[in-house]
Amino acid sequence: MRNKRISKIKKSVKSEFKPLFHLAPHFGWMNDPNGFCYYKGHFHLFYQHNPYSSRWGRMHWGHATSKDLIKWHHQPIALSPDTKNDNFLGCFSGSAIEKNNTLYLLYTGVKFLKQQQMIASSNDGITFTKQFEPIISARNRPPFCVVFSFRDPKVFKKDNSYFAVIGAAYKKGRQIALYKSSDLYSWKFKGSLIKEETKKRGIFECPDLIEFKNRDLLIYSIMYTETKCMEYQNLHSSVYLIGNTDYEKYEFSTTGRQKELDYGCDFYAPQTTTTPDGRVIMVAWMQMWFRSIPTSYLKHNFAGMMTLPRELFIDNDTLFQKPVEEVYSHFEINKVKMKTSINDKISFENIKGECFILDINVEDINAILKIFIRQNNSCHTLITLQDKTIIFNRENSGHKIKGSKMDDHCNIRYCNIQNEKVLTMQIISDKSSIEIFINNRYCMSNTVYPYDGADGICFQSPTGCDAKIVFSPLKSS
Ligand code: FRU
Repeated sequence: MRNKRISKIKKSVKSEFKPLFHLAPHFGWMNDPNGFCYYKGHFHLFYQHNPYSSRWGRMHWGHATSKDLIKWHHQPIALSPDTKNDNFLGCFSGSAIEKNNTLYLLYTGVKFLKQQQMIASSNDGITFTKQFEPIISARNRPPFCVVFSFRDPKVFKKDNSYFAVIGAAYKKGRQIALYKSSDLYSWKFKGSLIKEETKKRGIFECPDLIEFKNRDLLIYSIMYTETKCMEYQNLHSSVYLIGNTDYEKYEFSTTGRQKELDYGCDFYAPQTTTTPDGRVIMVAWMQMWFRSIPTSYLKHNFAGMMTLPRELFIDNDTLFQKPVEEVYSHFEINKVKMKTSINDKISFENIKGECFILDINVEDINAILKIFIRQNNSCHTLITLQDKTIIFNRENSGHKIKGSKMDDHCNIRYCNIQNEKVLTMQIISDKSSIEIFINNRYCMSNTVYPYDGADGICFQSPTGCDAKIVFSPLKSS
């Protein structure tokens, strides 16, 4: 019966909006990246998955592998909600770690409303065997944490111990709990890396702690954030703190403030891994909770995708993000390269397409520049530089995306670049996404669902503006 339902949905998937160089589910629903790791010669990316429908449902772990983080191969479902501790809402988010050649997945099993941390293992990275009892049971949750707010373990090794950061509630609000283990099976609560006293709904979801040379990066996602001018424009936001972890006191200290990882419409629940050559790579779910998703309502029978994997680095207490270098070998780099003065609306020969990288350098950051992409007679997406702000507007992008009542303003996003001296912008467009990297520092990730044949690109500058434009289309293979 279940297999019948799966083969029905598999057969009826439509590919019009299927990304060509981002990971999306083969069929069905995708949310958070899980278990992102490098194991036995391949990158593995698991994800929250409902194979029966293009809407959220009981969670499975979908699975894909890749040699280069760009071309992904679908693998069989890694975890299904089929044991007494996870067969209610399913196998929620978690992470992966290798120990003595075995790959372990740590995830949250949801039994009724009870959230407990579970483990599964594999020797080939494809077939996983679950341990049926939790490794961190509800009894072992942090003091005063309610049973339904304890989830998303991210495991890592530090010296000879294993640690896991887990999103949790406490008496007065929410926290990121730190657990320690010597063998991955027996865990002790050690302390809270951060605590926020609040009456707001929701916990810190999908925490991640990454060690750089002399700083640690703490990442987490928060549901129901309040918009403050150009910050927290999404109802749910993924943020970071730069600081240091004290592994004797089990504390995290920071002198910086909490900042957002991305200023676009669609970015949530990021997770990182480290490559064999030492780079820290992050992917996130390029979607947002509780919005209408065209591939779902148009019955394309899949929904959700991942961002392009990004390399993270910290310099001078500032976080930088750039696309992984592996992406460039998939494009005809510098196919069109030019310096030009832009005034009235103009397009250029050979600069058009659906899947491309468009690099734009502007020296006068006070200029106004409008870039229309994915354009035809009935739709376009507009990226504007104005008042030292990048404005992304998908109001006329094509098939409509609507937010919930609290999220009704979900099609325009602003990114403040007041502190920048020049503008180097990289716009990366796939079939149904547009990601913008600004000075390798600010990012805006967005989904768009243009009408058929929208491949036009135009430029316009009411103030007049000199720009360097480089266009690199996706290679055809
Ligand atoms: C974040 C999240 C996680 C949870 C998962 C369920 O997007 O809510 O906290 O584990 O999604 O699919």
